Amino acid sequence: MSDPQIRDAEETDLEQITAIHNDAVVHTTAIWNEEAVDVADRSAWLAARRERGFPVIVATDETGVVGYASFGDWRPHSGYRHTVEHSVYVRGDQRGRGIGRLLMVELIRRAKDLGIHVMVGAVESGNLPSIVLHKRLDFLQVGRMPQVGAKFGRWLDLTFLQLVLDDRPFPPELRAPAEDAR
Ligand SMILES: CC(C)(COP(=O)(O)OP(=O)(O)OC[C@H]1O[C@@H](n2cnc3c(N)ncnc32)[C@H](O)[C@@H]1OP(=O)(O)O)[C@@H](O)C(=O)NCCC(=O)NCCS
Repeated sequence: MSDPQIRDAEETDLEQITAIHNDAVVHTTAIWNEEAVDVADRSAWLAARRERGFPVIVATDETGVVGYASFGDWRPHSGYRHTVEHSVYVRGDQRGRGIGRLLMVELIRRAKDLGIHVMVGAVESGNLPSIVLHKRLDFLQVGRMPQVGAKFGRWLDLTFLQLVLDDRPFPPELRAPAEDAR
């Protein structure tokens, strides 16, 4: 099998993206939602991400889309504008062969190019593959919220992991306090 290639998602990928999404909905606690969606739903999601200038990327090989990843606003208020929350999904039969890592490396590169300061991953605390993936990429585990979710008849804990992407001491559009004091 050839090495997966990473590129921006296109409309023609949406059917396979929808299938990967729905598989995660039905079989995993990666998404805290129990309703499968249709291609129109993912199409609207892709359009919304593009509208905001955020990437949706796919990993592909000769079998089609083997994984995808994206990020969006972490929280709505403007003070959070330098932080994003990302998601990454690898097709069930392709996990554990480095595709999640490939997608994340490219997503981190895209985030840096956009001047994003922090990436946040919100991961179900029992999702060991995702937690290991993030830690291997130097994400720091910063918190765990017990029982904030529910799926499959049990409470779910949420673990936050974050990666600070640069060492800027101040947000770009603010002046340094020293300048204010002059
Ligand atoms: C989490 C997920 C994206 C990881 O992608 P993947 O392609 O399987 O992971 P990779 O093969 O790139 O592995 C990345 C790292 O995690 C480790 N890892 C992967 N699966 C693991 C497992 N089951 N147990 C322990 N470590 C694991 C790998 O060893 C690797 O570490 P390394 O870089 O030191 O070798 C994938 O399992 C997935 O899509 N899961 C379902 C959806 C999901 O949980 N998404 C994340 C939502 S927050």
